[in-house]
Amino acid sequence: MDLARSVNEMRQWRRVARRSPLALFPTMGALHEGHFSLARQAREDSELVAVSIFVNPLQFGPAEDLASYPRDLDRDLELLEPLGVDVVFAPQPADFTPPQRRTTVHVAGLTDRLEGASRPGHFDGVTTIVTKLFSIVQPDTAYFSRKDFQQLVVVQAMVRDLDLPVRIVECDFVRDHDGLALSSRNANLSTQERRRALALSAALSAAVTSWDGDADVARARLVEALAAGPGVELDYAEIADPDTLEPLHGIHRGPAQALIAAWVGSTRLIDNARLPAVASATVT
Ligand code: PAF
Repeated sequence: MDLARSVNEMRQWRRVARRSPLALFPTMGALHEGHFSLARQAREDSELVAVSIFVNPLQFGPAEDLASYPRDLDRDLELLEPLGVDVVFAPQPADFTPPQRRTTVHVAGLTDRLEGASRPGHFDGVTTIVTKLFSIVQPDTAYFSRKDFQQLVVVQAMVRDLDLPVRIVECDFVRDHDGLALSSRNANLSTQERRRALALSAALSAAVTSWDGDADVARARLVEALAAGPGVELDYAEIADPDTLEPLHGIHRGPAQALIAAWVGSTRLIDNARLPAVASATVT
């Protein structure tokens, strides 16, 4: 497994391997089973696999957890080696996001709701860095998890709008045995907070089970379930169109996406679930 620590090293690596199809899996490190399952999928699908590790300062707001975001490059490299990853691109912040940088990639509309409303500028940081990664690594495919559902939708829109020559592969995400969605931020939860955090997946799973096509009822149930969770402070709970992320109201026959964000102690967690299309006969 090769390690590229600068933009030049990564470009040089890609130049040498330019004839082979390359899959990129972009990460911010602190890797866990959720990441490994995507890396394994990329390994199966593609001749070459690149994983990028970069805690992207552009996607953190001034009051957010950039400083405390877990980082351990040596551990991440050790864990990636047995997965058959060909190259890890782990650029240094001074090289990758220099202070004189003037350009931002902005996807309009999709980015001003949900995560975008709570974290202004977050998606500009994501799309700017993902564009740079695509430009430097030049992957044929790029793997994104449905765990960050809005990010996936935003990146897909960006790739379509800019005709970027990358195919986005949507991947399922991994939950722990008790339902908690795997996230690097789970490392910051105390034992009690981790237990409390189960309210998120429990609320979503109840929403899936009771889904009858009524978006307002489903939203109200989510809010109620999360309000009942001790030590959980709801940021948003939304039932949205999976393509446009517009909030849905009333009866909706097509599939919908339930999305939530909540604080558990000082850790902000997000989770989501697909609410399937409802057969017309069952919609009252
Ligand atoms: O999902 C993430 O880890 C990040 O948002 C990404 C895509 C690596 C961009 O920094």
